[in-house]
Amino acid sequence: MKLAVIGTGYVGLVSGVCFALNGNQVICVDKDAEKISKLNQMESPIYEPGIEALIEMNTQEGRLSFSADLRDSVRRSDIVILAVGTPSLPGGEADLRYIEGAAAEIGQAMEGYKIIMTKSTVPVGTNEKIRQIISTHTRHPFDVVSAPEFLREGSAIQDTLHPDRIIVGLDNPALEPLMRELHQGFTDNIFVTDIRSAEMIKYASNAFLATKISFINEIANICEKVGADVTEVAQGMGMDRRIGSSFLQAGIGYGGSCFPKDTNALIQIAGNVDYEFKLLESVVEVNKGQRFMIISKLHESLGSLRGAVIGVWGLAFKPNTDDVREAPAREIVEALVAEGATVKLYDPIAADNFRQQYDHPQLRWCGLPEEAAAGSDAICLLTDWSVFKDIDLHGLAESMRRQVLIDGRNVYSKEQIEGTGLEYHSVGRPQ
Ligand code: UGA
Repeated sequence: MKLAVIGTGYVGLVSGVCFALNGNQVICVDKDAEKISKLNQMESPIYEPGIEALIEMNTQEGRLSFSADLRDSVRRSDIVILAVGTPSLPGGEADLRYIEGAAAEIGQAMEGYKIIMTKSTVPVGTNEKIRQIISTHTRHPFDVVSAPEFLREGSAIQDTLHPDRIIVGLDNPALEPLMRELHQGFTDNIFVTDIRSAEMIKYASNAFLATKISFINEIANICEKVGADVTEVAQGMGMDRRIGSSFLQAGIGYGGSCFPKDTNALIQIAGNVDYEFKLLESVVEVNKGQRFMIISKLHESLGSLRGAVIGVWGLAFKPNTDDVREAPAREIVEALVAEGATVKLYDPIAADNFRQQYDHPQLRWCGLPEEAAAGSDAICLLTDWSVFKDIDLHGLAESMRRQVLIDGRNVYSKEQIEGTGLEYHSVGRPQ
């Protein structure tokens, strides 16, 4: 099939590459000419393990190309995939300006029948809006399909090639065989539903996963007070198939470009129809507070942080990405600076992105985890990068001024810490 994918962010680029890998003819389109020129040189504008090799292979084999010309790309395609961003407006609502702009341009470009498939996360009713916008610009027939994406940053290619399920929302049943053919080889688990339900499935799924995280974080906070171990609790809970074991890792809370944005948008969607989504409001509230547990633990160990030297390990919102959007590290580092600490920062790949968003004379940028630790009063582990798991903890303790290790992701076991001389604090586990 001939596809045009509008938007070369995580969703667009990864989908484009994977559909090309599946034998389709794909044009990835972006307004940003710089991104397109990078892509033409086989350079990915996003950090995602394995993506550049796939870009190169698909391009060389003639299935994948890049263009800044939306109209031409639409004309040359049968299916147009919308994968532009839907960032948050100040009130939490999704900003649909890129979706609406692209829809208008698609309508203007059309010279015959097209299928418009939305992969961007959009509020319920948006695909109908897309339909209206397109129809004001064209007399040609077209269909609209909602196909929300569930990939995770860092494992985006695997998630796309082997998803748990594919959701397809449509109102023209004749499209079902074509949608199955398009996704052939990814999974047979294709759930076909109506457009509004498909739009809601995406928000409800992200909101539910965020709820699991805030839930286990609150359980962890209680575990600390009653002397239970949240990792044991999560393991025991997860054995019940109705609960499931994933997304029960306690820590400093969720970040990233999706959960914070989508939970707020769903609260807003509910509010627009006079429904107060109290449970989700609490999930968001708990998540906002959870990161400051790091600061409380530092106070318990060190007292005042004025003049203290604090090492921070990990700035990305999770491992295997350079993405620092809504990363809990940002507010933690800001709080440390505000309390008068000198902060030594290390992240394997996200430090440049972090520094572009926030820099301060009290920050010291380090090229190695050991460098961030040397002479520090405490280390705060904020992202569970695998490099931290293999650190020599004895050497670490010796290099520090005071031996406090705050593990915000429960990376180390009791056995690893024993005998190192470190004062170790984790999340929801007995000290
Ligand atoms: C999330 C969803 O997992 C994807 O299914 C979805 O497609 C995507 O949002 C999106 O809407 O585009 P992502 O934001 O890439 O994917 O990252 P996750 O791996 O889900 O992690 C999100 C955050 O939750 C991270 O900060 C992570 O550290 C935190 N987390 C996750 C926990 O604190 N505990 C857990 O048990 C799991």
